[in-house]
Amino acid sequence: MSKLSVRRFPYSEEEIASFEATLAESAIRPLQLPQIFPGIERVPVEIGAVDPDTAHPNHVDMLYIAAIARQVRARRIFEFGTYLGRTTYHLALGPDAEQVFTLDLDPEGDYPGLKLGIAVRTVLTQFQGHFFKNSPVAEKVTQLHSDSRMFDYASLAGSIDFAFVDGGHGYDMVWNDTRGAMTMLRPGGTVVWHDFSPKGADVVRFAREFSRDRPLFWVRDTSLLVHVDGLDAMAFEASLPPYARELIKPGT
Ligand SMILES: C[S@@+](CC[C@H](N)C(=O)[O-])C[C@H]1O[C@@H](n2cnc3c(N)ncnc32)[C@H](O)[C@@H]1O
Repeated sequence: MSKLSVRRFPYSEEEIASFEATLAESAIRPLQLPQIFPGIERVPVEIGAVDPDTAHPNHVDMLYIAAIARQVRARRIFEFGTYLGRTTYHLALGPDAEQVFTLDLDPEGDYPGLKLGIAVRTVLTQFQGHFFKNSPVAEKVTQLHSDSRMFDYASLAGSIDFAFVDGGHGYDMVWNDTRGAMTMLRPGGTVVWHDFSPKGADVVRFAREFSRDRPLFWVRDTSLLVHVDGLDAMAFEASLPPYARELIKPGT
């Protein structure tokens, strides 16, 4: 066994080509986070939101998610996929957050039909919601137990300010959860998806199709996609902040 456990992200040529083709051919607009949400660079988020075990090269995705929810002053939040509850906890810590719904499988259930990895099964049965359970914000969190394909989204129709899609990552599941998110979203609300990356072939395929009707932002150098209801990502007039790499070092 190697002495150093250096984690690498060896995207294959094929994965990178498919990802780049999707970006080139789809209504998915790569922008820096402060271009999509001007002023977000001043939003404070606890560094515990950073996920050191992420399977993505960029470890700040979850920090950005908590920052976006705070920037749009989300009061009612819905998360698909609780896992350890790290993101749930940091969403609930937001000063405007009143209620955070987080949906995951029931730890008592049996899911022979679902492809769940060893880490997901272990967390599901032993550590689900660890970060927010017994925390000062626990009362703001509503843990929902259901297979997301069975959940009654109509019961929350039009009432959610911010939805985070990060449950099952198969193509059909992402579509299912997205339809649920769109049902629950209030006018002007925000949806963020995780795992839009060369490794997330199903999410990439979903995004290519979804963006045909609703253009999306890709937060550059992350695996986050963003939809803001009422905002056409392609027509949106984005300015470069003065600290942008392109302005400081033209040609990069
Ligand atoms: C990537 S993890 C979520 C990570 C979490 N959002 C975070 O930011 O730390 C995905 C979660 O989705 C859950 N999941 C997978 N399929 C599901 C389904 N059909 N319904 C509900 N939850 C599901 C898994 O149990 C797992 O906890």
